[in-house]
Amino acid sequence: MATKIVAIYNWKGGQGKSTFSIILGSWAGLKNLKVAVIDGDDGRTVSDWVQERELKGKLVPFKTALVSQFDFSRGTVNDEDFDWIFIDFPAAFNSKIEEALSYCNVLILPIKIGDAELARLKRLLQNSIVRDIPKIFILNQILWFEKEWLNSTRREIQALIRELKCPIVEIKYRSDYGKLMAGNLFWDNRKPRIYSGDLWVELRTLFQAVGLPSA
Ligand SMILES: Nc1ncnc2c1ncn2[C@@H]1O[C@H](COP(=O)(O)OP(=O)(O)OP(=O)(O)O)[C@@H](O)[C@H]1O
Ligand SMILES: [Mg+2]
Repeated sequence: MATKIVAIYNWKGGQGKSTFSIILGSWAGLKNLKVAVIDGDDGRTVSDWVQERELKGKLVPFKTALVSQFDFSRGTVNDEDFDWIFIDFPAAFNSKIEEALSYCNVLILPIKIGDAELARLKRLLQNSIVRDIPKIFILNQILWFEKEWLNSTRREIQALIRELKCPIVEIKYRSDYGKLMAGNLFWDNRKPRIYSGDLWVELRTLFQAVGLPSA
């Protein structure tokens, strides 16, 4: 299998980049795929998460590495090959990020719906590198109660994405996502959990869109 390099990117902080990098890396690893999650975040969110779990003796089903250890052109980490590489990008946009994105096969763009900046999103989508990468959008942290201005922003973004013919995954605001960063969401120590409920439906849609096993 050729290595699939997946960028999880948004120029803005707090959109869900690290959350979905960890979710995707964990899920793919639990499905016995060989996975690396690259910590592109200066805050080292992924490395810290991994270290904390390992200290507690809990399973981490992927390898992690810093960007400096990742060879973008070969898709290897310290000369090692993987089936899937998920890159937790930093919240910025510059020529280094543009170059890194150019090596990625898929770009996942989590957008926190309450923070959406439509003009900037449009500008990013016009970038020649971003334009040419297949994209999956996550509309993240959707609130369960009606807020007209949020709904109209969501509709505008949906219309924009529909024009691009890209998949959109909608993720509600849920405290479980916070819990994920602290510990176990869909696996308990070494045993995968029984999956059920809305959260599972949302994540399955994401796994399917990315091309990972969904059961
Ligand atoms: N759907 C959701 N519902 C509730 N909380 C969420 C959801 N998605 C993400 N979060 C929370 O939002 C916060 C920011 O998410 P995360 O750290 O993944 O963002 P980020 O894009 O990586 O941010 P940064 O740019 O700072 O690295 C975290 O506390 C995370 O648990
Ligand atoms: Mg992060």
